[in-house]
Amino acid sequence: MKPTITTTVIATLSIAMLVVGGCASERDAAPPGPPQAAIASAHPVATAAGFEVLTGGGNAFDAAIAVSATLAVVEPYSSGIGGGGFWLLHRAQDGMQRMVDGRETAPGAAHRKMYQDANGEVVPKLSVDGALAAGIPGEPAALEHIAQRYGRLPLARSLAPAIRAAREGFEVTEQYRRMAEFRLEALRASPAAAAVFLSNGEVPAIGHRIRQPDLAATLETIAREGADGFYRGAVARMLVEGSRAAGGIWTLDDLAGYQVKERAPLTGEFGGLRIVSAPPPSSGGVALLTILNIISGYSLEKLNLATRTHLTVEAMRRAYRDRAEYLGDMDFVQVPLRRLTSRDYAAGLRATIRLDRASASKELRPVAPQPAGQHTTHLSILDTEGNRVAATLSINYPFGACFVPPGTGVLLNDEMDDFSAKPGVANVYGLVGAEANAIAPRKRMLSSMSPTFVESEQGVGIIGTPGGSRIITMVLHGILALHAGADAQQIVAKKRYHHQYLPDAIQFEPGAFDAQLQAELELLGHQLQPLDSDYGNMQTVIWDRGANKVSAASDPRGEGLAEVR
Ligand code: DON
Repeated sequence: MKPTITTTVIATLSIAMLVVGGCASERDAAPPGPPQAAIASAHPVATAAGFEVLTGGGNAFDAAIAVSATLAVVEPYSSGIGGGGFWLLHRAQDGMQRMVDGRETAPGAAHRKMYQDANGEVVPKLSVDGALAAGIPGEPAALEHIAQRYGRLPLARSLAPAIRAAREGFEVTEQYRRMAEFRLEALRASPAAAAVFLSNGEVPAIGHRIRQPDLAATLETIAREGADGFYRGAVARMLVEGSRAAGGIWTLDDLAGYQVKERAPLTGEFGGLRIVSAPPPSSGGVALLTILNIISGYSLEKLNLATRTHLTVEAMRRAYRDRAEYLGDMDFVQVPLRRLTSRDYAAGLRATIRLDRASASKELRPVAPQPAGQHTTHLSILDTEGNRVAATLSINYPFGACFVPPGTGVLLNDEMDDFSAKPGVANVYGLVGAEANAIAPRKRMLSSMSPTFVESEQGVGIIGTPGGSRIITMVLHGILALHAGADAQQIVAKKRYHHQYLPDAIQFEPGAFDAQLQAELELLGHQLQPLDSDYGNMQTVIWDRGANKVSAASDPRGEGLAEVR
């Protein structure tokens, strides 16, 4: 059994909101900070880097820079300075909530048919392997932005642990081997990537040290010169030359023109909890709120498990259909955000759901499936002032495009595959997009990454995970577990299921559904698709204000570390 403290507290979250309704005089007083800080990340070295910066006088934002940059080094298959991400921030002193959008953008020479052949057929690997698959990275610019605007320490201080890790190296683990094995062929195709991430062209043995001197030098340049050290000057020239020599289309202008965006998070309410999550170009916040709005119309706790699961699946089905149709970069396309996240709209969708029978996805507009894994990464941080960060970062596939421009040490992302290469044609993950997510110069590709805060007067949850299109339903399960009184460890360990409209099947982890539940769901007309393995790598921090207690947990499926100090 887990310690009961968090369980009790979170169970009271919704009650406090409903009964007390938030007391104004309490809210006006400067909120006292938590008794301890907490960091949950996907790698122990990254968690340690965050604490090093906190103890050195940094706040949660400085720590987020240290953890992000260190993950870029020690989890090279998940995220990196050649990629991007979303950093959801909460500043305690004034309650500011912001999402720093460091998502990659399409290069200026990108065009909607760039991954199609002469016959208009999509050439699958083109948007996945090699230089042409890479969007213009956003992470270096985002880290500088966070340091300048929100941090307390100079960028160089927060980058120091990452630079050390790049120089001294880190040890190959099981997870590293699995990811390298999966991408072996593509890694071998880039000499600069193979030299660092493989050993004599093979997957390195457990314990082998991966040293990245070129990456260390690039990080040092960023530490010295700020983001300009990456987007301009010698590093930028090497990035562009290396990329173009290998069939890429990057230009110096693309790099110099990259811009971080600050966006207002999407907020909603569920069962007395305030949900704060990622707006477009992520689809996460919209889909989460749609699902929560739909299921909030039922008294789920009064229904049996099969009906509860059925209704949640039907809500997922409808939210993912809308994702395919409406969502894209709002700097380029109009997204009916207010409508999609409104309760009235959800009520309309709810009215199409039958209690006694599964809907058929084929009666709705088609979308295709996407596998999920443990690449991409998430970190959750709380400092003792009450500042928070939830950040989900990515280079897309394991090891991104598997391409390193010589001399830079920078593994490029293959995030371009998150665009729709051709309307109606699935990307390699199986996702179909629409006009809203078509490729255009400097546009951001649609994402599922969903860094999220769950708030009430009584406490705060910081949640997120990798996992492709399953990210959104994983975060949903996290929110529902929190609402039901689960503690941090139970939240990250919870068995998961997922429906994304098409294939018209409920995917579920081993152990998520027992035989009886499976039979009942089939009786309701659902197709079941049992998965061979677990998925996701959730990192959670919970601050229970009422009990003055902080807890944190890292997904048992991964190799991460959560610590409270
Ligand atoms: O932004 C996105 O939605 C994807 N590039 C995330 C990929 C991912 O989570 C892969 N993880 N298993």
